[in-house]
Amino acid sequence: MRSHARPVGGMKIGSTLPSGHMQPADTAIEVLRQLGGRRPPIAILTGAGISAGSGLATFRGNGGLWEGHRVEDVATPGAFDRNPELVHRFYNERRAKLQSQDVTPNAAHTALARLEAMWPADVTIITQNVDDLHERASSTSIIHMHGELMQIRHAQTGETRAWKDHCDGTTLDGHWRPHIVWFGEAILEPDRIEACLRSAGLFLCIGTAGQVYPAAGFVHDVAGPSVEFNLDPTSITDAFTHAWHGPAVDTVPEFVDGLVDAGD
Ligand code: OAD
Repeated sequence: MRSHARPVGGMKIGSTLPSGHMQPADTAIEVLRQLGGRRPPIAILTGAGISAGSGLATFRGNGGLWEGHRVEDVATPGAFDRNPELVHRFYNERRAKLQSQDVTPNAAHTALARLEAMWPADVTIITQNVDDLHERASSTSIIHMHGELMQIRHAQTGETRAWKDHCDGTTLDGHWRPHIVWFGEAILEPDRIEACLRSAGLFLCIGTAGQVYPAAGFVHDVAGPSVEFNLDPTSITDAFTHAWHGPAVDTVPEFVDGLVDAGD
């Protein structure tokens, strides 16, 4: 990471360090300085980029395809109406991948769990990801705004239950669908998300392209410093007070260590 990751705007607010020598831990110290003695609740938005280091595919940057499928063929209510077998098969394959031995939480996931354990105020993860890697890393305060791969939902009643076996469209009387927010559908738990953002005094955004709203606008809802962690600059980078560009498995643990160690 050290040769690739670079701070962008990392020194915007009153820093004296030369940016060429900056590390994510320095940004953490800068953030703490901006917070004064306060240790406010932290809101963290995560996207597909945080799970890229665990071998899971991101959504964009691949010709608009997701694992070889057009998104509109597998991730819209219309797609499910037209071809439930294909949609179930697609999500069954994603579940199999998620459950394979080579997919485990990476250092960025575990760093966020460490932050939750060590920080004196609430640390809440608002994730666009439908995987369960934050849970497996031992984070406990997680809002899955786009649903959960390992759950299914009754199309009429909204009841959710753990996915246990392959769904093929006729499973459980045919009324069950993946517990996934598809294009054109409303996000889950909007009130809890709004309360989390309103009470937070620090916002971290990790591995999201910033192209899907409302998540792309969350940075404007938190009063306080904000840090973007992404492989590359995004369309919303300028909205953050600090940004680090490099693999999340490198930048996030270093930042968290700086925040927690300096906060002792
Ligand atoms: P995207 O696939 O759109 O973007 C992934 C982001 O992660 C990109 O900005 C990459 O640069 C960045 N990235 C990739 N590898 C990284 C790494 N190792 N470290 C840090 N960053 C990395 O995924 P999202 O922004 O999460 O919604 O997509 C948002 C939503 O769009 C998804 O939740 C999904 C999709 O439509 C629904 O399914 C409702």
